[in-house]
Amino acid sequence: MTDIIDGKAVAEGIRAELESSVGALKDAGVTPGLATVLMSDDPASETYVSMKQRDCEEVGIEGIHVEIDPDAPASELYDAIDELNDDPEVHGILVQMPVPEHVDSRRVLRAIDPTKDADGFHPENVGMLVAGHPRFKPCTPHGVQKLLASANVDTEGKDAVVVGRSNIVGKPMANLLVQKADGGNATVTVCHSRTADLAAKTREADIVVAAAGVPEMIDGEMLSDGVTVIDVGVNRVDADTEKGYELVGDVDFESAKEKASAITPVPGGVGPMTRAMLLYNTVKAAGIREGVEVELP
Ligand code: GUN
Repeated sequence: MTDIIDGKAVAEGIRAELESSVGALKDAGVTPGLATVLMSDDPASETYVSMKQRDCEEVGIEGIHVEIDPDAPASELYDAIDELNDDPEVHGILVQMPVPEHVDSRRVLRAIDPTKDADGFHPENVGMLVAGHPRFKPCTPHGVQKLLASANVDTEGKDAVVVGRSNIVGKPMANLLVQKADGGNATVTVCHSRTADLAAKTREADIVVAAAGVPEMIDGEMLSDGVTVIDVGVNRVDADTEKGYELVGDVDFESAKEKASAITPVPGGVGPMTRAMLLYNTVKAAGIREGVEVELP
């Protein structure tokens, strides 16, 4: 029997626990606040941000949303970040990526106060993660760690293959899995578009995390029996549906399921976890800033 890991249910549990953490903060006179900043008219980005705002409301976090015209000068975005950095009601800041080409995305990440960096993308937070004492773990890889734990997949001593080397998922995922800490202690291989023989690597893996952004690139033929498969991919592919597209992962679910002992679906796997861990980072940031000890899930 293959365990289909239900990310929606795990995220729901985390949100419920975060709701009581928010309650504890409120008892101490603190309402955690998360600012989302959108400088894009990409419909997918708009959807992601509005879902993040809805999540905030659900657990009692104050959501603040800032929209900047994608054609505006980059300085408007930098100024908005400065203002949010100085706003005492804002504990977490997220600038939805990608930003327009005329905006320097690295400058954006550096501009966010690292103690309000809900994404964990600021170089200071990246450094803390790599050095082994993370402050804010990036949301998607953190969510993957929680999913593995929820499925009772022990990473210690396992061969983990991360497919993809992005700063948002692949690299921090590898760093978390290799960490000398719970949810880590794995032997990690990072594969990418220039890997000579991807299948040879994935076939050796006990755990595969697929985060390359290529629809259904990993199939059952590339996996060994008993593997745990975590599919981070969210790819829109043309389909004969009302919307004209459907969402598929980086894994060919049907064939992979035949090999896997546990696997995440798309949608309903990693996606809901990413959103839950953003709330986690916001609650953590509020606790640190306001000097209130909060229990986190
Ligand atoms: N765009 C795609 N994923 C993310 C994410 O995790 N955070 C932000 N800020 N933008 C994204």
